[in-house]
Amino acid sequence: MSITFIEDKKAFLLETCHSSYQMQVSETGQLLHLYYGTPTHDLMDYLCVPFDVGFSPNPYEKKLTRGGSSDLLPLEYSGQNTGDFRTASVCSVREDGIWGADFRYEGHEILDGKYSIKGMPSAFDKSGSAESLKILLRDEASGLEAELLYGVFDKEDMITRAVRLRNGSDQKITLEKAGSACLDLPSGDYDLIHFHGRHTLERQAERVPVMTGIETVSSKRGASSHQQNPFVILCGKDAGEEAGECFGMMLVYSGSHRFDIEKEQTGSVRVSAGIHEEHFSWLLRPNEVFETPEVLMTFSDRGLSALSDSYHRFIRSHICKSAYMERKRPVLINSWEACYFDFDSEKILDLARRAAELGIEMLVMDDGWFGKRIDDNAGLGDWYVNEDRLPGGLAPLIGKIRDMGLKFGIWVEPEMVNEDSDLYRAHPDWALTVPGRKPSVSRNQLVLDMSRPEVVDYLYHTLHSLLADHDIAYVKWDMNRHLTDFYSRGLPPERQGEVPHRFMLGLYDLLERLTEDFPDVLFEGCSGGGGRFDAAMLRYFPQIWCSDDTDAFERLSIQEGTSYGYPISSVSAHVSAVPNHQTGRITPFGTRGLTAMQGSFGYELDLKTLTEEEKSEVRKQIADYHALYDLIQKGSYYRLTDQMGRGDHKAWEFVSRDRSQVMVSLVVTAARPCLGPIRIRLRGLLPEADYELVSRETFGCGNPLPDQRKRFTGAALMKGGYVLPEMFGSFPSCRILFKKV
Ligand code: DGJ
Repeated sequence: MSITFIEDKKAFLLETCHSSYQMQVSETGQLLHLYYGTPTHDLMDYLCVPFDVGFSPNPYEKKLTRGGSSDLLPLEYSGQNTGDFRTASVCSVREDGIWGADFRYEGHEILDGKYSIKGMPSAFDKSGSAESLKILLRDEASGLEAELLYGVFDKEDMITRAVRLRNGSDQKITLEKAGSACLDLPSGDYDLIHFHGRHTLERQAERVPVMTGIETVSSKRGASSHQQNPFVILCGKDAGEEAGECFGMMLVYSGSHRFDIEKEQTGSVRVSAGIHEEHFSWLLRPNEVFETPEVLMTFSDRGLSALSDSYHRFIRSHICKSAYMERKRPVLINSWEACYFDFDSEKILDLARRAAELGIEMLVMDDGWFGKRIDDNAGLGDWYVNEDRLPGGLAPLIGKIRDMGLKFGIWVEPEMVNEDSDLYRAHPDWALTVPGRKPSVSRNQLVLDMSRPEVVDYLYHTLHSLLADHDIAYVKWDMNRHLTDFYSRGLPPERQGEVPHRFMLGLYDLLERLTEDFPDVLFEGCSGGGGRFDAAMLRYFPQIWCSDDTDAFERLSIQEGTSYGYPISSVSAHVSAVPNHQTGRITPFGTRGLTAMQGSFGYELDLKTLTEEEKSEVRKQIADYHALYDLIQKGSYYRLTDQMGRGDHKAWEFVSRDRSQVMVSLVVTAARPCLGPIRIRLRGLLPEADYELVSRETFGCGNPLPDQRKRFTGAALMKGGYVLPEMFGSFPSCRILFKKV
């Protein structure tokens, strides 16, 4: 039993292998959060001691007592306008002007299996081992009900949360904020780790102290965004990769989001997560229900590696529904950095021919194959082939590529439209634009109004035909601008605040239908690189193009930041040309391969420019990738260096789940004389076992490395470490394989 209700204490215990989550109904009927942390096998109700602070008001029932203010109690889901001045979970206004909510417990239900939410990705439980808890809270004055949903996955150490808000009154209620979860942590010194960035520099891990006041991690861009990922970690000051307490909260949502981390007057910390309220309102008629996106919460008292591993395993087995989570993914060549918009069928076939010779398994034809798309000013929306470029259409091209032994993949960007397109000319009202205002343009494109079912249906039928009529094994689903000009011609004035979230529901509906219809197609997500790298997208896309920055050096921090929350198998990474197209940097071919092998592997460069030596490197990289595939995709991943390290190298490690196979990769990021050898302490080995060095390969290293000892105990490699002699060159790298003997 992962969920227990202790009747006489009115307490709920949610237990996973390494965590305990506890709540209690107070004598006033408020739902208190008691504890989230290491299992104690004890009810932690004694922690919640009432205390008094001036100007923090009490619930009416407590008017004669000091202490017990809603402003100071750890609340499981906070209302508004009732004396809790911290961040509210929900903001609501009823037709008669009653606003806010004072939530009190009404009842609960414990169920086998995982609850589900409609129309949005959420965790599923194929094995039937999860349990669910539903706790009903109600605000008497307005009739607003909040059904708090908890899914407990004990072996995976994951607790999912979402909320069903129901209008239980006979008047309309408008939600102005609908939070997914609130977590009140006791007073203490915490750090916040979050993942910020920009286009071509996504998910840079930043660790900052939680200050008094509110720190916000958010996106108002209608997308989970390059700028701030919907994932935060709160941790103790002493928490590192291997030890210390940390709490993760990850939204399963791809639209505008907001996390508020609030350290209040007495030092306790509230983390609130949900849809960003700035572009949000939702009208609930009597009896109508609004379901929030889900939050994935995990706790680790064994540091950040364990926290990341929980997310990696959970997303792979309980979020992503694609068969490709288990199936082998082909090594691909993508045409974008090889040709950009400048191609025809001859050029694509030439790229395919060269790819086939090297052992590459799939050719992906990127942007530029449809409508009048010869640059980024026209064509989006017209998903029919440009016969000037590809005479006879897609079928003959695909046929020739298949004959070479390659699979064929294609690029689409369905949510967007160019004004210069047949689709826009036929349906100008299908784009998001505000009447009377010129829309903002980005990459000269507008956004389709996915809140309208007819737009979603049109895209569904168009893309369905494309996939049904052609032998397409892979789809790269791109999205190259953020959302503005929210106004839907399909909704009445009082529902215009619903457009951003309805856009997401329309997109999820489209993706759900297409991925169900074509389970054998490998769908890859993309949004100008990793601008929509989130758990909801991972339901449909087992891999996401991690960044438009393909420079191996830059990719180190982008991929490392991504690894805190998202599985390595979801990180799409390619070897590209040098000087790199985004930075002009030159890195060795082997270092580019090593870095791209920290993900789902491929190439993105003009193969005809390769030297014979580089061609043999490609063949070797592909053979290595196949040999190491399971270790990389399914093994445990460890960050061996972080921002706190010596700063002249990055290292990471994969260990097979049975601890028998080990791969350490290291890139020297700064050439500095007289630095001395590099000592890497391995992780995740069996301390008592013996490990043998299988191979130690260097790439781009100007000096030979002297031979070293070949056999070590796991404990020696973890405590003493492995020592690498100095390596000379520009971004040299090294791969070391060990096996348990
Ligand atoms: C942005 C993507 O991230 C690129 O890889 C490429 O597909 C371009 N869009 C094409 O427009």
